[in-house]
Amino acid sequence: MYRTHNCGELRLENAGSEVTLAGWVQKSRKLGGMTFIDLRDRYGITQLVVPGEAPESLQEIAASLGREFVLQVTGKVVERESKNPKMPTGEIEIAVSDIRILNKAQTPPFTIEENSDGGEDLRARYRYLDLRRPPLQRALALRHRLAQEIRSYLDKEGFMEIETPYLIKSTPEGARDFVVPSRMNPGQFYALPQSPQTFKQLLMVAGYDRYFQIVRCFRDEDLRADRQPEFTQIDCEMSFVEQEDVLNTFEGMMRQMFRGALGVEIPDPLPRMSWYEAMDKYGSDKPDIRFGMTIHEVSSLVKGCGFGVFDDAEYIGAICVPDAAAWTRKEIDQLTEWVKRPQVGAKGLVYVKVNEDGSLKSSVDKFYTPEQLQALADALQAGKGDMLLLLCGPKRKTQGQLGVLRIEMGQRLGLRDPKVFAPLWVVDFPLLEWSEEDGRFYAMHHPFTAPKPEHESLFYSDRKEDLEKVCANAYDFVLNGTELGGGSIRIHEAAMQERMFEVLGIGKQEAEYKFGFIINAFKFGAPPHGGLAFGFDRVCALFGGQETIRDYIAFPKNNQGRDVMIDSPSAIDEAQLEELEISIKK
Ligand code: AMO
Repeated sequence: MYRTHNCGELRLENAGSEVTLAGWVQKSRKLGGMTFIDLRDRYGITQLVVPGEAPESLQEIAASLGREFVLQVTGKVVERESKNPKMPTGEIEIAVSDIRILNKAQTPPFTIEENSDGGEDLRARYRYLDLRRPPLQRALALRHRLAQEIRSYLDKEGFMEIETPYLIKSTPEGARDFVVPSRMNPGQFYALPQSPQTFKQLLMVAGYDRYFQIVRCFRDEDLRADRQPEFTQIDCEMSFVEQEDVLNTFEGMMRQMFRGALGVEIPDPLPRMSWYEAMDKYGSDKPDIRFGMTIHEVSSLVKGCGFGVFDDAEYIGAICVPDAAAWTRKEIDQLTEWVKRPQVGAKGLVYVKVNEDGSLKSSVDKFYTPEQLQALADALQAGKGDMLLLLCGPKRKTQGQLGVLRIEMGQRLGLRDPKVFAPLWVVDFPLLEWSEEDGRFYAMHHPFTAPKPEHESLFYSDRKEDLEKVCANAYDFVLNGTELGGGSIRIHEAAMQERMFEVLGIGKQEAEYKFGFIINAFKFGAPPHGGLAFGFDRVCALFGGQETIRDYIAFPKNNQGRDVMIDSPSAIDEAQLEELEISIKK
């Protein structure tokens, strides 16, 4: 046997047994005549000791070991004199009788320990070394565990795991496509799937009424902490269902995931909030409901009092920040600058402080009587020591800015504990979103989402105001301010799908060219269906208490979309370009 045990499993009850371990040298140090070696594998660390009275040949080997050498070691488990309660194996050590160096190692460019001294870029270049570190091993173990919970749950619920192709045609999920040139069809390109959306719907037409896939998706979009150009979805679709069936099924899956991976019970049933309520109260379609500090419209209380900025505004909203009345002038000025940054985009910030003695102090004192300010404070139930923050402007935009401000205040006040989980469904999304810039509607989710049956007549109206009111049976699963997943009940009739393309300003010809296959399929007995997809990397990161998904992906890309370890993307040689009949514009 190569090894009798791994480096994380020996305990005091193993004392006296002869064992063989294999692993990497984390560190080795000489103390008196003895050499201590920490041997590591993905299960843990075991301390080895080469006693002073060991044969010289063994002492020599022990003295020659460097960090990350790979060893096979035989020895006896003994109780340690000075125990380390912080390590699971801390009560024992191995009195070594034999060491075989399986492979030497160059000195690694950074320390491979719980916390490394290596910068992000360096660690990315040596990802395989970074992956030896316990935090990354825990992250991937969590990902594995979650994948098992998902498969076990969906299998039990009768879902079939079916793969769909990667070399396809553009899928409209709103990002740019990654494209792949076809050698056999010069001048033509495949698109990599932004999601398997159309294929899973075709599987429904084909009668596979419960489908799932843990699948890679590709989107060429600007990267952020929770975005990668290739990421993984838990993609699901069901036939003969209504929204309620979909929500119940996947609430069940999430429940099993929380229970199985974290031992956490989430509320049953999960809270639901309409998109409109989320926007009005949280200024976001992915509300973080771990804390209150909700947005209140105060237009009627502050308009018409002579303060021009408010008098001219479409909407004025406020949040009440607890225990912030003591903020200094400087701190408030800094916050004002913060909300004016392009990332937030507010024009200015108005505050109203409720001092400890109950008096009010505001940046717009001269326009309002103390009674008017008091009415404002009362409307937000502001108590002594609290501070109101007000923003104004177009309604949805201002709510969005207040939402960003609310999250920032929550963060600063420590109200966003990553170990607290507050999942919910956001439902009743508008079907369409008007773009002033482009003068056309976009699908809020994607163009296969169906209008709510009771809004169908509005959907066939030609008036913009009517179309704006159409709601969809669309839903998002939100956790702690992050959209973890989303889906909808789909259109399953060719005529309605054609109407959707018409509303989106996609001409008949273009629709036929891009989506003829699915419109056609709907003519052959498509069942009513719906589904959703979760962002698996985001699920893993949030379950692990992080916002960045990179650590939960074995080989991720950096912010420029590069894999610096394999140095990709990179140029290809002339011959390859020639074969593809592609020439590069200089
Ligand atoms: P959607 O576009 O909302 O829906 O994607 C589903 C979920 O995928 C995750 N996600 C991402 N994760 C990491 N990096 C990215 N670049 C990225 N983009 C999206 C998010 C998101 O909630 N076909 C539909 C689903 C459906 O209707 O069934 C779809 O793809 O967590």
